[in-house]
Amino acid sequence: MADQWNNLRDARFLLDEDTRPLNPVPPVILTTPAAMRRWRSANSGSVGFVPTMGYLHEGHMDLVRRSIDENLLTVVSIFVNPTQFAPDEDFSRYPRDEVRDLAQLSAAGVDAVYLPGATDMYPEGYQTYVEVEQVTRPLEGARRPGHFRGVTTVVLKLFNAVGPDRAYFGRKDAQQLRVIQRMVRDLDLGVEVVPCDIVRETDGLAMSSRNVYLSPEQRTAATVLKRALDDTRRRWAEGERDADTLRAAVSRLIDAEPLAELDYVSLADDESLQELEGTAVRPAILSMVVKFGKTRLLDNIELA
Ligand code: PAJ
Repeated sequence: MADQWNNLRDARFLLDEDTRPLNPVPPVILTTPAAMRRWRSANSGSVGFVPTMGYLHEGHMDLVRRSIDENLLTVVSIFVNPTQFAPDEDFSRYPRDEVRDLAQLSAAGVDAVYLPGATDMYPEGYQTYVEVEQVTRPLEGARRPGHFRGVTTVVLKLFNAVGPDRAYFGRKDAQQLRVIQRMVRDLDLGVEVVPCDIVRETDGLAMSSRNVYLSPEQRTAATVLKRALDDTRRRWAEGERDADTLRAAVSRLIDAEPLAELDYVSLADDESLQELEGTAVRPAILSMVVKFGKTRLLDNIELA
C-alpha cells in the first residue's frame, strides 16, 4: 500500500507542466523533529529543501519551484527562528500567515511542510550553538551580533531533521548564503547548497517579507536601492574599479533620497566578504543596507 502511494506521488513528476493536476496531493505537515525524521526515513529519492521564516512571496516560491524541478521530493520549512533575532529586533512582530503559506505550497506541489514549534526546536535546557568564524564578522554580522550564530544553528538543526540532498538559498541574503556554504563545507554536511537569483518586484525592489513594514511613501522611495545597484553595474561595465569611487557613488544616490538612510555600503571580495581597498580586481560583491524608518532593506549585486 505504501509503495502504491509512493508510486502515485512520484508519477506527478513524470507529467509535464500542462498535464500536471490542478489540485496536487496536499503536502504532509510535520511539526516535530522526530516526525520530520520519520517522514525522511520512510521516503527514498532525492530531497530538495527550502528553509524559510514564512510569509511567503515570489522570491521564496522561486526557490520552491526550482527544488521541485530538480528533486523527486521537496520539503519547505516555516519557522520564525527566535535565536537569530536580537532582543530589540522584530521577532514578535515578524509577519506571519500560515494559512496563506500552506495554500501556496500546496498549489505548487510541495511534498512536505516542516512547521516545528519554538519549544520543539529549543526545549528547556537548550545550550548548543554553531559558530562560523571570519565570514560572519563583517556586514550583517557586525551590525547584528549573534544573528548568524542563530541562523547556522537553526539551519543545521533543520538539515538534521529533513536530511536533504540539496538546499536552496537566495542570493538576496548574500552573506547568509556564504555562511551556510562555509558551514556545509567545514562540517562535511554533504548537502548541495544551490544559490538562487534575487527575485524583484516590477519596479526593481527585491522581494522581502519585511517590505510590508513600508509606508506607501517609503515603498516608492525604496526603488533607490535598485537604481544604485544599476548605477554600480554600469560603472563596473565601463571599467570603474576604484573601490572608494564605487562605494561613494552609491552613498550619493542613497543620500539624495530623503526617506532613505544608508546603514552601510560595502564592496567586498565575493567569497570571503573582506572589504576591498584600492583597485577591485577579483570577483566582487557590492552590498548595502538602507533604512526606511526602522525597516532595514538589504540588496546586492555580484560584479564578476
Ligand atoms: P527568509 O527571510 O524567509 O528567507 C528564506 C529564503 O528565501 C532565503 O534563502 C532567502 O535568501 C530567500 N529569499 C528571500 N527573498 C528573496 C528574493 N527576493 N529573491 C530570492 N530569494 C529570496 O533567510 C531566512 O528566511 C532565514 O534566515 C532562514 C535561512 C530560514 C533561517 O532561519
